[in-house]
Amino acid sequence: MWLPCRCTTKYVAASIRRGVSASSLHALRRGRSSWNSAAFMPESAGFEGVSGRDALHDYSVSHSENFWAAVARQRLNWIRPFEAVQDCDLSQGRIKWFEGGKLNVSVNCLDRHVHTCPERVALIWERDERGSEVRYTYRELLEMTCRLGNLLRRHGVKKGDCVTIYMPTCPLAVASMLACARIGAAHNVVFAGFSSEALAERIRDAQSSTVITVNQGVRGGKITELKRTVDAAVQSCPTVRQVFVAMRTEKRVEVTDRDFALEEEMLKEDVVCEPAAMDSEDVLFLLYTSGSTGKPKGLVHTQAGYLLYAALTHRYVFGYHDGDVFGCVADIGWITGHSYTVYGPLANGGTTVLFESTPVYPDPGRYWDMVERLRINQFYGAPTAIRLLIRYGDQWVKKYDRSSLTTLGSVGEPINTEAWEWYNRVVGEGRCPVVDTWWQTETGGICIAPKPSEPDAEIVPGMAMRPFFGIKPALMDTEGKLLTSNNASGALCMAQPWPGMARTIHNNHQRFLETYFQPYPGYFFTGDGAYRSQEGYYQITGRLDDVINVSGHRIGTAEIEDVVNQCSAVAESAVIGYSHSIKGQGVYAFVVLKKGVDMQEADLSKELNSMVSEKIAKYACPDFIQFAKRLPKTRSGKIMRRVLRKVVDCDLDSLGDLSTLDDPAAVQEIIEGHEKLL
Ligand code: WT7
Repeated sequence: MWLPCRCTTKYVAASIRRGVSASSLHALRRGRSSWNSAAFMPESAGFEGVSGRDALHDYSVSHSENFWAAVARQRLNWIRPFEAVQDCDLSQGRIKWFEGGKLNVSVNCLDRHVHTCPERVALIWERDERGSEVRYTYRELLEMTCRLGNLLRRHGVKKGDCVTIYMPTCPLAVASMLACARIGAAHNVVFAGFSSEALAERIRDAQSSTVITVNQGVRGGKITELKRTVDAAVQSCPTVRQVFVAMRTEKRVEVTDRDFALEEEMLKEDVVCEPAAMDSEDVLFLLYTSGSTGKPKGLVHTQAGYLLYAALTHRYVFGYHDGDVFGCVADIGWITGHSYTVYGPLANGGTTVLFESTPVYPDPGRYWDMVERLRINQFYGAPTAIRLLIRYGDQWVKKYDRSSLTTLGSVGEPINTEAWEWYNRVVGEGRCPVVDTWWQTETGGICIAPKPSEPDAEIVPGMAMRPFFGIKPALMDTEGKLLTSNNASGALCMAQPWPGMARTIHNNHQRFLETYFQPYPGYFFTGDGAYRSQEGYYQITGRLDDVINVSGHRIGTAEIEDVVNQCSAVAESAVIGYSHSIKGQGVYAFVVLKKGVDMQEADLSKELNSMVSEKIAKYACPDFIQFAKRLPKTRSGKIMRRVLRKVVDCDLDSLGDLSTLDDPAAVQEIIEGHEKLL
């Protein structure tokens, strides 16, 4: 039996900056014990001559079909076995896995565990009110899912339809996702922090007939009127026939002919629901995310490949073992919640925590109090929360018993060295590996992470380190040529397909091809830059496009500009990200007003902020709005964002080549305006 590396992992306390000393890494490699792949990963028992982590990784890439076929046969329950392992061609953007196979995702997440251990806890709902957690066994979750599946069926939801779920992280939301999977409908979970307009845009694009929501949300002690937001949204969504409303609080809400009380309706339904036999490549869900244009894209994930990849990464990146309690604190509205709160843990028969609250409610000890109370083994969170908690001091952590913890995961944005070390030293008492996981909505699951690795292998703070099984990263230079050597930086691509990757953008396959497959023909382009160290480890250096990352939330600057430009006083705007000590990045907007506008800047700022929060979400609101007479542009009229970025980062020494500027005086004005604002 392979044991997780509780005390053997060594860390290199090196800087996040490039060029980590090769000799220090080398020193830590000495004495690495050989590691038995078959014991670690039972699926690999049939792989001839494979021993050790690196050999297993090599095999997974060089014998990709054998690898994935073995894993898919052993990890998933099939109604009918697949005929072809894959039919992929990255140069065409064609991705198909396990064709000919039939399965049901909810059966894989529920029924098979109910057969072996019906009373095992599937969900622990850590409600906003501290200390009032509720547990649901696999049997109970299956019952809930079946009732919901029957209800949706009775209301005409069919295979191929799309159900929008606008709910906080809670058991009924999970059951709703699984109920869709059970009857073959696709789900479209929309983060409950999005505004009614953002919700409406997603419902319309997904052509949803059905919305599931709650009367009110409760988070950080505050009430949000989610049903009211849905009411406002569906006014502009002609496809919506019905809205199911669950009761999170006692408060009764206004109902229309379209609305149904979810729990009441569920009581009328049977607890047995025949699962649909789905093709491997049928749609499991859409999930909207930001790109570099104003319109969010509905990425499409399918059944077998997605589930397999979520389950495998969950087990091996975090060292999840039967009986462990897995605590991913991400909201189910994001891909992290999909893959590591819901699908990965449940496919593995695990116990997963649904975190409804915030890291500072009712006080900054919330996470660690929860770790102690629920005996969480793997904790998975975002650097932005860690940075926030550092400010409150170590005592909030030390107050609670964290001896259950074995692994600390980080996701969503780069983790800086200070946050990494605090997470490791204070939260994990130096015992728990900090696993910085790099991936995206598009990749379906973790692609680069320090684990799995040999037990005593090094982890460099701030580096995502090693590609997961089946993942073959590639770096491209500015000319689009493959960088073959180490100690190199470039555009991060993937040279091979893997089962978890997105298959298309809903209703816009052309955009899918243009965004991910045309920039580097034959490769999947991630949109991120990366550095590969001398040792072959990866470090993510940030987005190469106009997407920014605010508190781990991805947002396209063009989306914010579109809203700002809708204001009648605004002539044009440019929104950029700047580094922010807690949020990772903050939003900085340059705004040029129309001639003759006579309004106080403070009033305008207020108006612009409320517009962004109404049309997108609160987190997208600018931290700074700088009013300018004009923006620096090239002679061909393109805004020079590169220059604006340097100005807000106060990096005036490297403004770069300004020779293409139409009017260099514009830069000086911008610099002066920026200084005034600070
Ligand atoms: C973008 C994806 C991964 C699920 C949550 C976010 C950035 C993500 C890391 C990391 C540095 C990271 C990338 C990526 N990102 N993880 N460990 N280190 N950057 O999913 O909303 O699709 O955003 O988040 O820029 O492209 P997402």
